[in-house]
Amino acid sequence: MHCARLTDEQERQIAAALETTPDLLPFLSELLADIWELGSWPAVIAEMLGARGLPSSTRVLDLGCGKGAIGIRLARDLGFGVLGVDLFEPFIREARERARREGVDDRCEFRVADARDLLVSNSRFDVVVWAALGGALGGFDRCIGQLRRIVRSNGYIVIDDGFLASEHAMERNGYDHYTSREETHQLLTRHGDELLQETLIPQSEVEACNRENNRRIQVRAKGLMERFPEHADRLAGYVESQVAECEVLESSIAAAVWLLQRGD
Ligand SMILES: C[S@@+](CC[C@H](N)C(=O)[O-])C[C@H]1O[C@@H](n2cnc3c(N)ncnc32)[C@H](O)[C@@H]1O
Repeated sequence: MHCARLTDEQERQIAAALETTPDLLPFLSELLADIWELGSWPAVIAEMLGARGLPSSTRVLDLGCGKGAIGIRLARDLGFGVLGVDLFEPFIREARERARREGVDDRCEFRVADARDLLVSNSRFDVVVWAALGGALGGFDRCIGQLRRIVRSNGYIVIDDGFLASEHAMERNGYDHYTSREETHQLLTRHGDELLQETLIPQSEVEACNRENNRRIQVRAKGLMERFPEHADRLAGYVESQVAECEVLESSIAAAVWLLQRGD
């Protein structure tokens, strides 16, 4: 199986980031085969960074890059050089293949690696991207504290996530890092970095995207259920949990992308 080299804890990390459980991992690449952007907004990120007038020598690190949707767009639209890392090997294979098809494989490197290993490396990037990985590094202040270590001085940090749409805290597993918009701004800038831009994703866009993604998952799940009837309950459970997850998110979280510039 493709996950053989992963520890149990790493399998839990991948599953949690994709809002599922490790027992579904063998089916995940097929369930998500028709979805390329896994919960982030690559066009928004490309527009934000494009507005900064950065040179094509810009080096980007995309942590938990999934199928490379963000990195490939930055390489294609802005000519940046990208290193994308993800623990899930099937996604990395897809990212490499897509980069080849889009003619940017000379500017994109995709590696199977634990993002946490890169955070303790001595590398320095011009831009570090943390997109659709939620609270895996803790609250926003702790997350930025770790990301900024591998960003050059005056370099950029992109966070693609969200904040609480209402005053009520989220009592849901994996969502405890969410807080109000104002407090999120305070946490993001706690280490002295400047919040350069915030882009809010319209709720209607989030809903349309979720609906389409869930439809695609459903089609794939149906095909898998026919081939693996013994796993039908598990697969049906996955489809249901994705729909439920989207409903919770849509009613409680406002999606946002933030661009920060590292202070000293
Ligand atoms: C929701 S997806 C987002 C993927 C990508 N950023 C995108 O926007 O398309 C989360 C990804 O994080 C990866 N992941 C979770 N924990 C990780 C870790 N510790 N190191 C590397 N990748 C990780 C998962 O395998 C998954 O591909």
